[in-house]
Amino acid sequence: MSVTDDAELSLWKYSDSLGALPEEYEDIPEEERLERTEAALEELDDTVVLGHNYQRHSVTRHADHLGDSLQLSRLAGEADARNVVFCGVTFMAETADIVTDEDQRVIMPSMEASCPMAGMAEDIQVDGAWNELTEVVPAEDVTPVTYVNSYASLKAFTAENGGTCCTSSNASDAFEWALDQGEKILFTPDKHLAHNTLHELGYGDDDFVVWDPWEDELGGNTPEEIREATFILWEGFCQVHERFEASDVADVRDAHPDANVIVHPECRREVVEAADYDGSTSTIIEKVENAPKGSKWSIGTEIHLVKRLARENPDKEVFGLCGEECMDCNAMRQIDPDFLLYALEELADGNVVNRIDVDENDKRLAEQALDTMLSI
Ligand code: 13P
Ligand code: SF4
Repeated sequence: MSVTDDAELSLWKYSDSLGALPEEYEDIPEEERLERTEAALEELDDTVVLGHNYQRHSVTRHADHLGDSLQLSRLAGEADARNVVFCGVTFMAETADIVTDEDQRVIMPSMEASCPMAGMAEDIQVDGAWNELTEVVPAEDVTPVTYVNSYASLKAFTAENGGTCCTSSNASDAFEWALDQGEKILFTPDKHLAHNTLHELGYGDDDFVVWDPWEDELGGNTPEEIREATFILWEGFCQVHERFEASDVADVRDAHPDANVIVHPECRREVVEAADYDGSTSTIIEKVENAPKGSKWSIGTEIHLVKRLARENPDKEVFGLCGEECMDCNAMRQIDPDFLLYALEELADGNVVNRIDVDENDKRLAEQALDTMLSI
């Protein structure tokens, strides 16, 4: 029996909270928008604006801090501002809400900024998969590991079942820890990050199966395949990073034989294998910033980070691994400067729009999964 039933899937977390941009915020001339955004920020002295590395310049120019998802959550936790305006995607804002105090408010300029990969592992699917899986292998043999790019409810499920979160920088440590707890890992939601990590640890393609929640039985696997696998990878992926192909790396090698190729570990295995380096957004930034003058870097990650690195490193040649459109995250793009202005002006008027408020039980458990990760 399939655990995936269209009628029961929410398909888009926060879809109930979607609000259209009021008409008066459309078509504001850029100069006026800039002035009004700065004026609203000046009025809001108890507010911090956080911007993810993948946000466009017209948004990040107003951010007090830029960073990757974990850095931003840490910054939110350390901030004593009452309002945390989070320019990223909703799962990141949830993490910020988890680590901030009760009286702090995490606000998204637009609720449409929801990561499709986080939405690929719905609670009902993961619960159903766990029930099916643990009929074939004992629950104590399986440790869930969940990428921080996931909703709080999945992090909570992970803690409830003895698992941990991980980021793209510490996934191999989390895997080693999980394999000390039991003999198998259920990894959600990004199959490519897991695939790359298990190879990094010396495992191979015979050691995992992919669990597709849309398949009828055992995610499309036989009981025997499940019993033999060390890693059970959820059928989820990032729509941006999955677009890169090994042929993109080959094309760069032809056109720029002296370029270094660095990609995010959410890319397919063959792309990571073809590249010179792989690493999280922070690793990519560090690598380019510390590279010698005159070096060339072709980068396989979201286009707005690549553009920023090109702008901030004029002594190096920095360019994307494929065309701009291929590298644009549509979820991140939902935060635009008009929505930011709207949220800030509403806040200055005393109205909180688009607050992220994680359920208390999920908050407590998700924090436990994050704490486990930090203790590994
Ligand atoms: P970071 O965790 O490096 O910020 O990555 C976020 C992301 O969305 C990657 O696709
Ligand atoms: Fe989600 Fe990928 Fe966009 Fe990151 S880049 S927010 S993982 S779709």
